[in-house]
Amino acid sequence: MKSISDLGDLHGVRVVIRCDFNVPLKGGVITDDGRIRAALPTLKQLLGAGARMSVLAHLGRPGGEVNPKYTLAPVAIRLAELLGQPVPLAADVVGASAQALSASLNDGEICMVENVRYEPAEESKDAAQRKILAEKYAKLGEVFVSDGFGVLHRKQASVYDIAQLLPSAAGALVKAEIEVLAQLVVNPKRPFVVVLGGAKVADKLAVIDNLLRIADTLVIGGGMAYTFLAAQGYAIGKSILDEANIGTCQRYLDTAAELGKRIVLPVDTVVAPGVDFETGKVIGEVSLVPITDMPDDQGGYDIGSATEKLFTDVIRAADTVFWNGPMGVCEVPEFAAGTKAIAQALSEVAGLSVVGGGDSAAAVRDFGYSDAAFGHVSTGGGASLEYLEGKTLPGIAVLED
Ligand code: 3PG
Repeated sequence: MKSISDLGDLHGVRVVIRCDFNVPLKGGVITDDGRIRAALPTLKQLLGAGARMSVLAHLGRPGGEVNPKYTLAPVAIRLAELLGQPVPLAADVVGASAQALSASLNDGEICMVENVRYEPAEESKDAAQRKILAEKYAKLGEVFVSDGFGVLHRKQASVYDIAQLLPSAAGALVKAEIEVLAQLVVNPKRPFVVVLGGAKVADKLAVIDNLLRIADTLVIGGGMAYTFLAAQGYAIGKSILDEANIGTCQRYLDTAAELGKRIVLPVDTVVAPGVDFETGKVIGEVSLVPITDMPDDQGGYDIGSATEKLFTDVIRAADTVFWNGPMGVCEVPEFAAGTKAIAQALSEVAGLSVVGGGDSAAAVRDFGYSDAAFGHVSTGGGASLEYLEGKTLPGIAVLED
Protein backbone atom coordinates (compact mmCIF):
# COMPACT_ATOMS: atom_id res chain seq x y z
CA MET A 1 0.00 0.00 0.00
CA LYS A 2 1.42 3.39 -0.99
CA SER A 3 2.10 6.01 1.68
CA ILE A 4 1.70 9.77 1.38
CA SER A 5 5.46 10.06 0.82
CA ASP A 6 5.07 7.96 -2.34
CA LEU A 7 2.92 10.71 -3.84
CA GLY A 8 5.99 12.96 -4.14
CA ASP A 9 6.29 16.65 -3.27
CA LEU A 10 2.78 17.85 -2.44
CA HIS A 11 3.61 21.55 -2.21
CA GLY A 12 0.85 23.36 -4.12
CA VAL A 13 -0.74 20.04 -5.11
CA ARG A 14 -4.54 19.69 -4.85
CA VAL A 15 -5.25 16.68 -2.63
CA VAL A 16 -8.64 14.98 -2.17
CA ILE A 17 -8.71 13.18 1.17
CA ARG A 18 -11.41 10.79 2.47
CA CYS A 19 -11.86 10.93 6.25
CA ASP A 20 -14.33 9.16 8.54
CA PHE A 21 -15.95 12.00 10.45
CA ASN A 22 -19.06 10.00 11.31
CA VAL A 23 -19.22 11.35 14.86
CA PRO A 24 -22.06 11.04 17.39
CA LEU A 25 -24.21 14.17 17.72
CA LYS A 26 -26.83 15.17 20.26
CA GLY A 27 -28.95 18.19 19.34
CA GLY A 28 -26.39 19.22 16.72
CA VAL A 29 -23.51 19.06 19.23
CA ILE A 30 -20.67 16.56 18.75
CA THR A 31 -20.54 14.29 21.82
CA ASP A 32 -17.29 12.50 20.89
CA ASP A 33 -14.78 14.09 18.51
CA GLY A 34 -12.37 11.11 18.61
CA ARG A 35 -12.66 10.45 14.90
CA ILE A 36 -11.84 14.07 14.07
CA ARG A 37 -8.84 14.09 16.41
CA ALA A 38 -7.63 10.81 14.93
CA ALA A 39 -7.42 12.44 11.49
CA LEU A 40 -5.30 15.38 12.68
CA PRO A 41 -1.81 13.85 12.17
CA THR A 42 -2.51 13.14 8.49
CA LEU A 43 -4.20 16.48 7.90
CA LYS A 44 -1.37 18.39 9.62
CA GLN A 45 1.23 16.42 7.66
CA LEU A 46 -0.43 17.37 4.38
CA LEU A 47 -1.06 21.00 5.33
CA GLY A 48 2.54 21.28 6.53
CA ALA A 49 3.68 19.99 3.15
CA GLY A 50 1.76 22.82 1.48
CA ALA A 51 -1.03 20.72 -0.02
CA ARG A 52 -4.39 22.26 -0.97
CA MET A 53 -6.87 19.90 0.61
CA SER A 54 -10.50 19.07 -0.11
CA VAL A 55 -12.01 16.69 2.46
CA LEU A 56 -14.66 14.10 1.59
CA ALA A 57 -16.63 12.63 4.52
CA HIS A 58 -20.03 11.24 5.47
CA LEU A 59 -22.23 11.70 8.50
CA GLY A 60 -24.97 9.21 9.33
CA ARG A 61 -27.08 7.60 6.64
CA PRO A 62 -29.04 10.29 4.77
CA GLY A 63 -29.70 7.75 2.01
CA GLY A 64 -28.77 9.84 -1.03
CA GLU A 65 -30.88 12.85 -0.09
CA VAL A 66 -29.90 16.30 1.09
CA ASN A 67 -31.01 16.48 4.72
CA PRO A 68 -29.82 19.31 7.01
CA LYS A 69 -29.94 16.89 9.94
CA TYR A 70 -26.82 15.27 8.47
CA THR A 71 -24.88 18.39 7.51
CA LEU A 72 -21.12 18.29 8.13
CA ALA A 73 -21.26 21.87 9.45
CA PRO A 74 -20.58 20.89 13.12
CA VAL A 75 -17.64 18.78 11.95
CA ALA A 76 -16.12 21.61 9.90
CA ILE A 77 -16.40 23.94 12.91
CA ARG A 78 -14.76 21.42 15.26
CA LEU A 79 -12.03 20.59 12.74
CA ALA A 80 -11.22 24.29 12.36
CA GLU A 81 -10.91 24.60 16.15
CA LEU A 82 -8.61 21.58 16.37
CA LEU A 83 -6.44 22.62 13.42
CA GLY A 84 -6.37 26.27 14.42
CA GLN A 85 -7.17 27.40 10.89
CA PRO A 86 -10.34 28.00 8.87
CA VAL A 87 -12.15 24.99 7.39
CA PRO A 88 -14.83 26.38 5.07
CA LEU A 89 -17.62 23.97 4.10
CA ALA A 90 -19.05 23.90 0.57
CA ALA A 91 -22.82 24.11 0.24
CA ASP A 92 -22.86 20.99 -1.95
CA VAL A 93 -20.86 17.82 -2.54
CA VAL A 94 -19.61 18.08 -6.12
CA GLY A 95 -21.55 21.06 -7.45
CA ALA A 96 -20.54 24.64 -8.24
CA SER A 97 -19.90 25.50 -4.58
CA ALA A 98 -17.57 22.53 -3.98
CA GLN A 99 -15.66 23.12 -7.19
CA ALA A 100 -15.23 26.85 -6.60
CA LEU A 101 -14.19 26.41 -2.96
CA SER A 102 -11.72 23.66 -3.77
CA ALA A 103 -10.22 25.69 -6.65
CA SER A 104 -9.85 28.77 -4.43
CA LEU A 105 -7.53 27.07 -1.91
CA ASN A 106 -3.99 28.33 -1.44
CA ASP A 107 -1.01 26.21 -0.37
CA GLY A 108 -1.56 24.78 3.12
CA GLU A 109 -5.32 25.48 3.09
CA ILE A 110 -8.18 23.05 3.63
CA CYS A 111 -11.91 22.90 2.88
CA MET A 112 -14.67 20.34 3.24
CA VAL A 113 -17.49 19.46 0.88
CA GLU A 114 -20.93 18.47 2.17
CA ASN A 115 -21.88 14.95 3.26
CA VAL A 116 -20.97 12.59 0.40
CA ARG A 117 -24.04 10.49 1.26
CA TYR A 118 -26.26 13.34 0.03
CA GLU A 119 -25.31 11.97 -3.42
CA PRO A 120 -27.44 8.93 -4.38
CA ALA A 121 -24.55 7.38 -6.34
CA GLU A 122 -22.15 7.38 -3.36
CA GLU A 123 -23.50 4.11 -1.94
CA SER A 124 -24.90 2.71 -5.19
CA LYS A 125 -24.38 -0.97 -5.95
CA ASP A 126 -24.04 0.02 -9.62
CA ALA A 127 -20.33 0.51 -10.35
CA ALA A 128 -21.04 2.68 -13.41
CA GLN A 129 -23.11 5.13 -11.33
CA ARG A 130 -20.45 5.28 -8.65
CA LYS A 131 -17.78 5.91 -11.26
CA ILE A 132 -19.63 8.97 -12.62
CA LEU A 133 -19.70 10.43 -9.11
CA ALA A 134 -16.09 9.45 -8.42
CA GLU A 135 -15.06 11.35 -11.56
CA LYS A 136 -16.61 14.46 -10.04
CA TYR A 137 -14.74 13.92 -6.77
CA ALA A 138 -11.56 13.44 -8.77
CA LYS A 139 -11.99 16.93 -10.24
CA LEU A 140 -11.40 18.33 -6.75
CA GLY A 141 -7.76 17.24 -6.78
CA GLU A 142 -4.77 15.72 -8.50
CA VAL A 143 -4.07 12.95 -5.95
CA PHE A 144 -6.21 10.99 -3.46
CA VAL A 145 -5.39 10.13 0.14
CA SER A 146 -7.55 7.48 1.81
CA ASP A 147 -7.62 8.04 5.56
CA GLY A 148 -11.16 7.11 6.62
CA PHE A 149 -10.33 3.78 8.22
CA GLY A 150 -13.83 3.36 9.66
CA VAL A 151 -15.38 3.29 6.20
CA LEU A 152 -12.84 1.11 4.32
CA HIS A 153 -15.25 -1.83 4.46
CA ARG A 154 -17.68 0.06 2.23
CA LYS A 155 -17.38 -0.19 -1.56
CA GLN A 156 -18.45 3.39 -2.07
CA ALA A 157 -17.55 6.10 -4.58
CA SER A 158 -15.51 8.26 -2.17
CA VAL A 159 -13.73 5.24 -0.67
CA TYR A 160 -13.21 2.79 -3.51
CA ASP A 161 -13.95 4.22 -6.96
CA ILE A 162 -12.03 7.48 -6.62
CA ALA A 163 -8.87 5.53 -5.77
CA GLN A 164 -9.03 3.99 -9.25
CA LEU A 165 -9.06 7.41 -10.90
CA LEU A 166 -6.28 9.36 -9.15
CA PRO A 167 -2.79 8.46 -7.93
CA SER A 168 -3.68 7.23 -4.42
CA ALA A 169 -2.10 6.50 -1.07
CA ALA A 170 -3.12 5.48 2.44
CA GLY A 171 -3.01 8.20 5.09
CA ALA A 172 -1.23 7.88 8.42
CA LEU A 173 -4.41 6.84 10.28
CA VAL A 174 -5.19 3.99 7.90
CA LYS A 175 -1.57 2.80 8.11
CA ALA A 176 -1.56 2.95 11.92
CA GLU A 177 -4.89 1.14 12.25
CA ILE A 178 -3.83 -1.68 9.94
CA GLU A 179 -0.47 -2.03 11.66
CA VAL A 180 -2.17 -2.63 15.03
CA LEU A 181 -5.02 -4.82 13.78
CA ALA A 182 -2.58 -6.95 11.79
CA GLN A 183 -0.91 -7.85 15.10
CA LEU A 184 -4.22 -9.34 16.22
CA VAL A 185 -4.60 -11.45 13.11
CA VAL A 186 -0.99 -12.50 12.56
CA ASN A 187 0.60 -14.18 15.52
CA PRO A 188 -0.98 -12.33 18.48
CA LYS A 189 0.70 -12.69 21.89
CA ARG A 190 -1.24 -15.24 23.93
CA PRO A 191 -3.51 -15.56 25.75
CA PHE A 192 -5.51 -13.58 23.18
CA VAL A 193 -8.91 -12.59 24.52
CA VAL A 194 -11.68 -11.01 22.47
CA VAL A 195 -14.49 -9.24 24.30
CA LEU A 196 -17.67 -8.75 22.29
CA GLY A 197 -20.74 -6.83 23.33
CA GLY A 198 -23.41 -4.66 21.80
CA ALA A 199 -26.85 -5.64 20.73
CA LYS A 200 -26.46 -6.82 17.15
CA VAL A 201 -25.77 -10.55 17.34
CA ALA A 202 -26.35 -11.03 13.62
CA ASP A 203 -23.72 -8.40 12.70
CA LYS A 204 -21.10 -10.07 14.86
CA LEU A 205 -21.77 -13.72 14.16
CA ALA A 206 -19.47 -13.92 11.16
CA VAL A 207 -16.61 -12.46 13.13
CA ILE A 208 -17.11 -15.02 15.90
CA ASP A 209 -16.53 -17.76 13.36
CA ASN A 210 -13.05 -16.47 12.56
CA LEU A 211 -12.24 -15.30 16.09
CA LEU A 212 -12.87 -18.77 17.48
CA ARG A 213 -9.92 -19.81 15.40
CA ILE A 214 -7.51 -16.98 16.21
CA ALA A 215 -8.44 -16.09 19.83
CA ASP A 216 -8.01 -18.29 22.91
CA THR A 217 -11.04 -16.99 24.75
CA LEU A 218 -14.17 -15.15 23.66
CA VAL A 219 -15.90 -13.12 26.33
CA ILE A 220 -19.45 -12.29 25.30
CA GLY A 221 -21.54 -9.70 27.12
CA GLY A 222 -24.02 -6.99 26.19
CA GLY A 223 -27.24 -7.60 24.32
CA MET A 224 -25.75 -10.33 22.18
CA ALA A 225 -25.05 -12.55 25.21
CA TYR A 226 -28.74 -13.31 25.73
CA THR A 227 -29.04 -15.23 22.46
CA PHE A 228 -26.09 -17.38 23.58
CA LEU A 229 -27.73 -17.87 26.98
CA ALA A 230 -30.98 -18.84 25.26
CA ALA A 231 -28.97 -21.33 23.18
CA GLN A 232 -27.77 -22.82 26.47
CA GLY A 233 -31.39 -23.24 27.54
CA TYR A 234 -31.74 -20.34 29.98
CA ALA A 235 -34.98 -18.37 30.20
CA ILE A 236 -33.94 -14.78 29.46
CA GLY A 237 -37.17 -12.92 30.23
CA LYS A 238 -37.67 -9.81 28.11
CA SER A 239 -33.96 -9.51 27.24
CA ILE A 240 -32.98 -8.82 23.64
CA LEU A 241 -33.09 -12.06 21.64
CA ASP A 242 -32.10 -12.84 18.06
CA GLU A 243 -34.30 -15.89 17.73
CA ALA A 244 -33.17 -16.71 14.19
CA ASN A 245 -29.60 -17.10 15.42
CA ILE A 246 -30.08 -19.33 18.47
CA GLY A 247 -28.99 -22.33 16.39
CA THR A 248 -25.88 -20.52 15.17
CA CYS A 249 -24.92 -19.60 18.74
CA GLN A 250 -25.39 -23.23 19.73
CA ARG A 251 -23.08 -24.24 16.86
CA TYR A 252 -20.41 -21.75 18.04
CA LEU A 253 -20.59 -23.12 21.58
CA ASP A 254 -20.06 -26.62 20.13
CA THR A 255 -17.21 -25.46 17.86
CA ALA A 256 -15.50 -23.73 20.78
CA ALA A 257 -15.66 -26.95 22.80
CA GLU A 258 -14.26 -28.95 19.87
CA LEU A 259 -11.39 -26.47 19.36
CA GLY A 260 -10.62 -26.34 23.08
CA LYS A 261 -11.48 -22.62 23.17
CA ARG A 262 -13.51 -20.87 25.85
CA ILE A 263 -16.63 -18.82 25.30
CA VAL A 264 -17.25 -17.00 28.59
CA LEU A 265 -20.84 -15.85 29.14
CA PRO A 266 -22.53 -13.84 31.91
CA VAL A 267 -23.45 -15.60 35.13
CA ASP A 268 -25.60 -12.77 36.48
CA THR A 269 -27.33 -9.75 35.06
CA VAL A 270 -28.86 -6.41 36.05
CA VAL A 271 -32.56 -6.50 35.20
CA ALA A 272 -35.42 -4.01 35.09
CA PRO A 273 -38.96 -3.99 33.70
CA GLY A 274 -37.80 -1.68 30.88
CA VAL A 275 -35.91 1.39 29.67
CA ASP A 276 -37.30 4.46 27.96
CA PHE A 277 -34.62 4.90 25.30
CA GLU A 278 -35.92 8.38 24.37
CA THR A 279 -35.34 9.82 27.84
CA GLY A 280 -32.67 7.34 29.00
CA LYS A 281 -34.75 6.60 32.12
CA VAL A 282 -35.25 3.18 33.71
CA ILE A 283 -38.83 1.98 33.98
CA GLY A 284 -39.44 0.31 37.37
CA GLU A 285 -37.00 -1.20 39.87
CA VAL A 286 -33.45 -2.31 39.00
CA SER A 287 -32.19 -5.57 40.53
CA LEU A 288 -29.33 -8.04 40.23
CA VAL A 289 -30.21 -11.67 39.48
CA PRO A 290 -28.28 -14.82 38.61
CA ILE A 291 -28.69 -15.94 35.02
CA THR A 292 -30.60 -18.98 36.27
CA ASP A 293 -33.23 -16.73 37.81
CA MET A 294 -34.27 -14.10 35.27
CA PRO A 295 -37.85 -12.88 35.81
CA ASP A 296 -40.15 -13.47 32.82
CA ASP A 297 -41.38 -9.89 32.80
CA GLN A 298 -37.98 -8.14 32.98
CA GLY A 299 -35.00 -7.69 30.68
CA GLY A 300 -31.24 -7.74 31.29
CA TYR A 301 -29.55 -4.37 30.64
CA ASP A 302 -26.05 -4.85 32.07
CA ILE A 303 -23.79 -7.66 33.24
CA GLY A 304 -23.92 -8.31 37.00
CA SER A 305 -21.11 -7.98 39.57
CA ALA A 306 -20.14 -11.69 39.52
CA THR A 307 -19.88 -11.48 35.72
CA GLU A 308 -17.77 -8.33 36.00
CA LYS A 309 -15.31 -10.27 38.16
CA LEU A 310 -15.37 -13.28 35.84
CA PHE A 311 -14.79 -11.18 32.70
CA THR A 312 -12.19 -8.82 34.15
CA ASP A 313 -10.13 -11.71 35.59
CA VAL A 314 -9.94 -13.21 32.10
CA ILE A 315 -9.02 -9.82 30.59
CA ARG A 316 -6.31 -9.02 33.15
CA ALA A 317 -4.66 -12.38 32.53
CA ALA A 318 -4.45 -11.76 28.76
CA ASP A 319 -1.48 -10.62 26.72
CA THR A 320 -3.61 -9.37 23.83
CA VAL A 321 -7.19 -8.08 24.14
CA PHE A 322 -9.59 -6.75 21.53
CA TRP A 323 -12.87 -5.26 22.76
CA ASN A 324 -15.84 -4.26 20.66
CA GLY A 325 -19.28 -3.36 22.00
CA PRO A 326 -20.65 -2.23 25.38
CA MET A 327 -21.70 -4.72 28.08
CA GLY A 328 -25.10 -3.12 28.50
CA VAL A 329 -27.10 0.06 27.96
CA CYS A 330 -24.12 2.02 29.25
CA GLU A 331 -25.55 5.43 28.39
CA VAL A 332 -28.05 4.86 31.23
CA PRO A 333 -26.13 5.34 34.53
CA GLU A 334 -27.85 2.37 36.24
CA PHE A 335 -26.49 0.07 33.51
CA ALA A 336 -23.00 1.53 33.00
CA ALA A 337 -21.05 -0.43 35.64
CA GLY A 338 -20.32 -3.50 33.51
CA THR A 339 -18.92 -1.51 30.58
CA LYS A 340 -16.88 0.64 33.00
CA ALA A 341 -15.40 -2.48 34.61
CA ILE A 342 -14.34 -3.81 31.20
CA ALA A 343 -12.77 -0.44 30.29
CA GLN A 344 -10.85 -0.40 33.57
CA ALA A 345 -9.59 -3.98 33.11
CA LEU A 346 -8.46 -3.23 29.55
CA SER A 347 -6.55 -0.18 30.77
CA GLU A 348 -4.65 -2.50 33.14
CA VAL A 349 -3.59 -5.04 30.51
CA ALA A 350 0.20 -5.12 30.27
CA GLY A 351 0.20 -6.40 26.69
CA LEU A 352 -1.69 -5.01 23.69
CA SER A 353 -5.23 -3.78 24.39
CA VAL A 354 -7.39 -2.55 21.52
CA VAL A 355 -10.74 -0.82 21.88
CA GLY A 356 -12.56 -1.09 18.57
CA GLY A 357 -15.65 0.69 17.37
CA GLY A 358 -17.42 3.99 17.71
CA ASP A 359 -19.67 3.02 20.64
CA SER A 360 -16.95 1.45 22.79
CA ALA A 361 -14.49 4.26 22.01
CA ALA A 362 -17.09 6.92 22.84
CA ALA A 363 -17.98 5.04 26.06
CA VAL A 364 -14.40 4.88 27.34
CA ARG A 365 -13.86 8.58 26.63
CA ASP A 366 -17.17 9.36 28.32
CA PHE A 367 -15.94 7.45 31.40
CA GLY A 368 -12.93 9.79 31.43
CA TYR A 369 -10.23 7.54 29.94
CA SER A 370 -7.76 9.09 27.54
CA ASP A 371 -6.88 7.05 24.44
CA ALA A 372 -3.39 6.64 25.94
CA ALA A 373 -4.87 4.37 28.65
CA PHE A 374 -5.14 1.63 25.99
CA GLY A 375 -2.75 0.17 23.46
CA HIS A 376 -4.93 1.45 20.64
CA VAL A 377 -8.39 2.92 20.22
CA SER A 378 -9.58 2.04 16.74
CA THR A 379 -11.75 4.48 14.82
CA GLY A 380 -13.36 1.56 13.00
CA GLY A 381 -16.29 -0.46 14.29
CA GLY A 382 -17.56 -2.48 11.34
CA ALA A 383 -14.24 -1.99 9.55
CA SER A 384 -12.11 -3.39 12.38
CA LEU A 385 -14.46 -6.36 12.85
CA GLU A 386 -14.43 -7.16 9.13
CA TYR A 387 -10.64 -6.91 9.15
CA LEU A 388 -10.46 -9.40 12.05
CA GLU A 389 -13.02 -11.55 10.28
CA GLY A 390 -10.39 -12.02 7.59
CA LYS A 391 -12.36 -10.20 4.90
CA THR A 392 -10.64 -8.13 2.23
CA LEU A 393 -11.80 -4.58 2.81
CA PRO A 394 -12.55 -2.90 -0.56
CA GLY A 395 -10.94 0.37 0.54
CA ILE A 396 -7.69 -1.47 1.33
CA ALA A 397 -7.75 -3.73 -1.73
CA VAL A 398 -8.09 -0.77 -4.08
CA LEU A 399 -5.01 0.90 -2.56
CA GLU A 400 -3.01 -2.30 -2.89
CA ASP A 401 -3.99 -2.57 -6.56
C1 3PG B 1 -18.99 3.76 11.10
O1 3PG B 1 -19.59 4.58 11.82
O2 3PG B 1 -18.75 2.58 11.48
C2 3PG B 1 -18.47 4.22 9.77
O3 3PG B 1 -18.46 5.60 9.67
C3 3PG B 1 -19.27 3.58 8.67
O4 3PG B 1 -20.59 4.02 8.73
P1 3PG B 1 -21.73 3.14 8.06
O5 3PG B 1 -21.88 1.89 8.90
O6 3PG B 1 -22.96 4.01 8.06
O7 3PG B 1 -21.29 2.79 6.67
